[in-house]
Amino acid sequence: MKKRDAILRTHFADRICHWFMVICFLLVALSGLSWFFPTMNWLNGVLGTPQMARILHPILGIVVFLALMFLFVRLVKYNLPEREDLIWIANIKSVLQGKHMKGLQIGKYNAGQKLLFWGIMSLISLLLISGLVVWRAYFAEYFPIPVIRIGLLLHSFAGICLILLIMGHAYMGFWVKGSIDSMITGYVSKLWAKTHHDRWYKKVTTKQTKTTGEK
Ligand code: HEM
Repeated sequence: MKKRDAILRTHFADRICHWFMVICFLLVALSGLSWFFPTMNWLNGVLGTPQMARILHPILGIVVFLALMFLFVRLVKYNLPEREDLIWIANIKSVLQGKHMKGLQIGKYNAGQKLLFWGIMSLISLLLISGLVVWRAYFAEYFPIPVIRIGLLLHSFAGICLILLIMGHAYMGFWVKGSIDSMITGYVSKLWAKTHHDRWYKKVTTKQTKTTGEK
């Protein structure tokens, strides 16, 4: 892709944070699954030994939470609900069929991505709170057993939901051609931006034209 045909979509700091978080998330998710499904018990070696998994799972979980908070601060302004999101939602059927309709007025992220953003942020917060309650080494002794049981239930529920959400997110990242470039090189083509995020494209190119005078 020639530089003049490309638009910067994801800054370096966000990309590094995203992929570092993906690795940590994978390790946390696999070790968590090893305790949830007996048939997946063999996965508890993913962090070296089962004992190491017990120690590192909560610590890596906190790392994922902090990384997501970094992304939250950097990206929340693009994920706030807007009136134009209703157009995307009203046309969800065609969007899912891969028809690139004009005039959907999509900003930097579409309504689906915004829902996913808030879903991820809510679930990771629930995981953090319930995780602290059931963290036997430090906090569990301060809570009565029924609270720990509810904590475990919520922790498992939120964990499974987040894993399913991330599987959908990763699938979309590969399925929508050109999307993954946004998280690898940081750049997307102007054509991609125009097709998938028309309102954002207009905003960015208008800004560029104003600063460089380039058409
Ligand atoms: C192999 C796994 C993954 C792939 C392929 C992937 C891919 C992507 C891509 C391509 C984007 C940019 C979308 C765009 O610019 O339109 C993105 C954004 C993002 N990803 Fe991932 N991702 C993966 C795993 C994860 C995980 C594990 C998390 C969190 C636990 C996560 C959280 C996010 C967040 C918060 C954003 C920003 C979205 C927004 O602001 O609306 N991703 N991802």
